[in-house]
Amino acid sequence: MEKVSITIDGYSLEVDSGKSILSAALEADLYIPHLCHHPDLPDAGECRLCVVEIEGQGEIKTSCTTQVEDGMVIHTKTEKLNNMRRLSMELMLANHVDDCTTCPKYLKCELQSLIQYLEVSTSRLRRTLNSVPVNTVNPLFVRDLNRCVSCGRCVRACKELRGVDVLNYEMTEDDRVVVDVKNHHTMAEENCRFCGACVEVCPTGALQDKEGVFKPNLNRELELIPCKAECPIHTDVPKYVRAIKEGRYQDAIATIREKAPFPHSLGYVCMAFCESACRRKEINQSLSIRELKKFAAAKDEGLWREHVTYKPKTGKRVAVIGSGPAGLTAAYYLTKLGHEVTVFERSPVAGGMLSTGIPKYRLPREAVQAEILEIERTGVTILTNTKVESLEDLKREGFDKILLAVGAGKGNRLPIEGADYSNVYENIEFLERASLGDSEPVGEKVIVLGGGNVAFDCARQALRLGAKDVVIACLESREAMTASEEEISEGLKEGIRLMNGRTFLAIEGSENKGTGVRCQEVSSFTFDENGKLQLEVKPESEHVLKADTIIFAAGQKPELPKQWDVPVKKGNLIDTDDDIRVKGREDLFAAGDVVYGTHSVVQAIAAGRKAALVIGKELNGDGDIEDKLAKDVTPNPCLGKSEGFLKTERQGCVDSCYKESAACTEAGRCLQCDLRTQITRPKLWVHYKIK
Ligand code: FES
Repeated sequence: MEKVSITIDGYSLEVDSGKSILSAALEADLYIPHLCHHPDLPDAGECRLCVVEIEGQGEIKTSCTTQVEDGMVIHTKTEKLNNMRRLSMELMLANHVDDCTTCPKYLKCELQSLIQYLEVSTSRLRRTLNSVPVNTVNPLFVRDLNRCVSCGRCVRACKELRGVDVLNYEMTEDDRVVVDVKNHHTMAEENCRFCGACVEVCPTGALQDKEGVFKPNLNRELELIPCKAECPIHTDVPKYVRAIKEGRYQDAIATIREKAPFPHSLGYVCMAFCESACRRKEINQSLSIRELKKFAAAKDEGLWREHVTYKPKTGKRVAVIGSGPAGLTAAYYLTKLGHEVTVFERSPVAGGMLSTGIPKYRLPREAVQAEILEIERTGVTILTNTKVESLEDLKREGFDKILLAVGAGKGNRLPIEGADYSNVYENIEFLERASLGDSEPVGEKVIVLGGGNVAFDCARQALRLGAKDVVIACLESREAMTASEEEISEGLKEGIRLMNGRTFLAIEGSENKGTGVRCQEVSSFTFDENGKLQLEVKPESEHVLKADTIIFAAGQKPELPKQWDVPVKKGNLIDTDDDIRVKGREDLFAAGDVVYGTHSVVQAIAAGRKAALVIGKELNGDGDIEDKLAKDVTPNPCLGKSEGFLKTERQGCVDSCYKESAACTEAGRCLQCDLRTQITRPKLWVHYKIK
């Protein structure tokens, strides 16, 4: 690029020709006041704050719209210019409310900062507060025209940067020109894409995000991308959704794999916290992110493998006890850090809850086994049918660190008469036996005692094993059940009957065989300060629910061998510092459900990642487990117009996975909140060297 020489306020600069005077000055850390200029937008010369005098050129110019020329001698801070600026500011302020302290942009407002810099009296600010009602009808943004100074940044961002062109200068009934949605329509009527660019570039509080849409106190990227923030492993959701939209399926799966070695399993059973945070739900329904993940995983051709990095071998050995998602995730990343990892699994199959807890109808075993095979490929050794009796023995065998990731796999049996009859099971035990194919055939009548998701897993599994009449009985009312709404409605559709408000007195039966559950109806219940259940039962409501198979689904806890002698807290959970280090035990770590009780698969993966990081550091490494598997493709900031974009409904799956066209349509519903992170945040005058 050709260079030209200019002088600004006595400073000689060599700058690229073709630049505006304002950009040249700002890049050289020389401040010229400006407001309607934004580094990512074409300049319009609206605010007239950036005025300069150029020697030999009589008229005053706006520096944002004037190109540099060789030999230019420019003055930016003469008395005349300062007066002009103050006048321009006062004109702008005449239409602005004077209650800065109540503005969400207070102390972050570019206008406020300029008032300070130019020492303008705020007496010109309009005295009447909020004379135009604040527009809150939009699901995501708030528009407050009382704070708009018509700088036009939002109009240019929408039109030039995004190519959507929803905003414009419009006349009000009292003949004022204001920025508004074209033709005074709603944003939806003008096919707004809800990308947030207008809010991002607004220098005042005229356009704001609705309160509650974003979580405060996060770094900027996580704040602006709620799906990524809510995901416990911060998967880059918009990045893989965009890749699916563009047919780059291998980039999509590589992006997901950067954070988790179980993408396909997550595609089936993730609790999808991302979907609850998705901003699209404010418009119609949230994006079907989990289904898109499953789609990407089903398309996996393994091209990401060539980008996986392995650190040099360290000679250190780590024992991981438990091969659930927490243990295997930790093992995977620790192996990549160069350590030799052996996973010990008491069951005949690896995978923990993925293989033996979550029923097959929800999570196909082939998907799990393929992912475990991939983990083994990195060099992880998994020993199944191997119970670890002594941690000391492992140390003697030369393991430098031990990670306990045994989950919470011991179901609770209520302490009632008959609870140990042969046809009475615990939830996890029942599911495990069903998964491993060694369950006794269930009887015709099955009763599950409990009201959480696991109770539904047991009940639905029982139906699939041939039960004809399955009842879920629990203490809670239908509304207070802890199972997810989705799980309850699916269960009811399959014919499961609910019996709410029951307390269980005994298992009826004889000769080691239960024949039913003696119950009583509950009118109310509370827990006292010690967490003890206080019940009020309905008089004369005792009755027996007949059953051939009875399953307790009343929570579960970790099962820890006595000889391990690890410190535990309530619920038999391992007592840790920082959720990872076992209290008072050097070289011993714990991760996943065994630390915090039953939670989601993705939470367990997050715990496994954290364990790898902490143990990696302890083994004198940097603990850096970040992978870069996907190509960086800069997203196109120009979204363009899209008729019907807002009306497109969430796509359903046929035959358990999206077809390509449905996946593309669904991915196309994404608001692409991440594009907002590409927008430059303008610097305030205080941040310039020469001001
Ligand atoms: Fe140049 Fe506003 S910044 S006119």
